[in-house]
Amino acid sequence: MPKTIALLTGGGDCPGLNAVIRAATRRSLDRGHRVVGVLQGWRGLVEGRYTPLEMGSISGLLPRGGTILRTSRTNPFKQEGGVDAVRRNLEQFDALIAIGGEDTLGVANRLHAEFGAPIVGVPKTIDNDLSGTDATFGFDTAVQIGTDAIDRLHTTAESHNRVMVVEVMGRHAGWIAMHSGLAGGADVILIPEFPLTVERTAQLVQRRHGRGKDFSIVVVSEGWPLTHEEGASRDLTTQTAELDAFGHVRLGGIGQQLADHLERITGFETRVTTLGHVQRGGTPTAYDRVLATRYGLLAADLVDGGQHGTMAALRGTEVVPVPLAEGVRELKTVPREFYALAEAFFG
Ligand code: F6P
Repeated sequence: MPKTIALLTGGGDCPGLNAVIRAATRRSLDRGHRVVGVLQGWRGLVEGRYTPLEMGSISGLLPRGGTILRTSRTNPFKQEGGVDAVRRNLEQFDALIAIGGEDTLGVANRLHAEFGAPIVGVPKTIDNDLSGTDATFGFDTAVQIGTDAIDRLHTTAESHNRVMVVEVMGRHAGWIAMHSGLAGGADVILIPEFPLTVERTAQLVQRRHGRGKDFSIVVVSEGWPLTHEEGASRDLTTQTAELDAFGHVRLGGIGQQLADHLERITGFETRVTTLGHVQRGGTPTAYDRVLATRYGLLAADLVDGGQHGTMAALRGTEVVPVPLAEGVRELKTVPREFYALAEAFFG
């Protein structure tokens, strides 16, 4: 029986979204199903905005960054009449593939659990902080961009005898800082899970310089709380006080604050680079293209088999279905043992 399958991408964009759209569409069309793209995440389902997805629409998508379906941070549960509109609009589809992170999949899980909505999830986020899967696509690309930046900053830091602070994304979890910092040979890595103090960071930089090095690289996650020895402040550094529809503040700016403290304490000239959205833009790495393709194919299979309320996940080397609820159960944070590996190279 041919089905009508809808696809949406929600939350922050991420390299590999188009590769998922391509794979899920291709497989579904090959089975004789009709595929419809929902525009701008949950907003498109509230407002009823769609575009047909055909063979021609998915041509050239594999290496393309961003999402041809566009995205938004709309939360139907926070809008007057939002959930009713989504449920009404969903009736015209046999199933929905929702591609997103904790927020988008959180909505998908609630719609499935509370109303039996026929939804299959695909885990996406450069932050890699979703439970239930060993990896999200987009993370590898973000790490590669961070590593390339750290490599480049090394040569200019060395030429000028400077400390370079590199601020990377990572709202609740320090995965990007850890992987790009380890791969790039950072001298200190600061993450939300194990917040070293400013003073300890300065000591580590001073120790390194005492051992004959004239420059240092400090990588900091945007979600690292500025932490002092005396415990005066453990606040997140934000760009505005406003919260989005999922209750998140807009982070950013911790790199500059840290650099100011480090320069004051150590006396070493310090500069800041904030990678920001560069980490989310552009073409996905080969790893992310393959992972996204595998997720897209499995999502299409799950929808075809009527296995709603599931999510495609990576377990070891296998891509398998897991309950959607498991994917959004908790955030996956950096474990102590992994941080200890990085500490071996601090200072
Ligand atoms: O969740 C992914 C992420 O890239 C976070 O690391 C970051 O805090 C946030 O999105 C930025 O979101 P926005 O695109 O709204 O600035």
